[in-house]
Amino acid sequence: MSEKNITLIATGGTIAGKSEEDGSYSAGSVPGQDLLRGLEPLPAPVQVKQLFQMDSREMSQEDWLILAGAVETALKRSRGVVIAHGTDTMEETAFFLSKTINAARPVILTGAMRPPGHFSPDGPFNLLQSLHLAAWPGARGVMLLMHDLFYDGAEAAKTAASRLNAFSSPGGELGQMYGLIPRTHRDWPSGQASFSLPEGTRLPLVGLLSGHVGMNTVMVREYIASGLRQGMRGLVYSAPGDGSVSLAMEATLLAAVKQGLRVVISSRTGCGWVGGRERGDASCLRGSGWDGPLQARINLMLELSQTESSF
Ligand code: SIN
Repeated sequence: MSEKNITLIATGGTIAGKSEEDGSYSAGSVPGQDLLRGLEPLPAPVQVKQLFQMDSREMSQEDWLILAGAVETALKRSRGVVIAHGTDTMEETAFFLSKTINAARPVILTGAMRPPGHFSPDGPFNLLQSLHLAAWPGARGVMLLMHDLFYDGAEAAKTAASRLNAFSSPGGELGQMYGLIPRTHRDWPSGQASFSLPEGTRLPLVGLLSGHVGMNTVMVREYIASGLRQGMRGLVYSAPGDGSVSLAMEATLLAAVKQGLRVVISSRTGCGWVGGRERGDASCLRGSGWDGPLQARINLMLELSQTESSF
């Protein structure tokens, strides 16, 4: 490989999906090399690494560590990296990589809402645009590109289940592709990792619960007890509003903190700052800041993987 190349890391997803004659469908079937067929103009030679071939719902925390290692290796040898990924959990992978990869060069996650066999697939152009963004002079950091728009990988979220423009970001997109040319209206992501992943890193179990009207705290206590038995070390509570926790739920979460669980409160609204609790004992329930629940869970997991005292 040379620094003139781009590395395409293929992990599966609908961008590599296949519909069978019996009507079944499987994401992650077409090899990464085949995704490049017919794409032109390529901005640089592309080296393909077929890392996984999966539906992204099967992505595990261990897979993230493998992917982070592959991205780091590829960044040393190429001018940019593109990751073809299923869209369903792409925002979580993008956030994880944003927090753990020092990316002085661009790392672009992309995917598709329609598979290659569709009469109008979206994957090929998403991939071509991503390769051009990955080769763009001065670009850096982990980003997610879908449908002309590219986002900071730490902020992007899948906010629609099945429409073509399925992603958005509470902070707005970083920029837009005009054909194959990126134009930014915010600065590139810093490209600086907040957490390191030394050899042997193990990512702890961190749970995520969504609050709702009529939340049954007996069930929640059972969930927490079961989680603790399985080694759960943290919990994110996706609360209504700006992190609004009912008194019964607050008592439940405080009991969990006493049992050794780290608890972070986030907002289920999809946008907005969540601060820490100020009421008496509840001050140990930390707010997620700008991070949504999925992102707060990864952040807490990474914190717990590094050191207990950093909390
Ligand atoms: C997946 O996430 O792997 C399947 C769905 C998609 O890519 O849109």
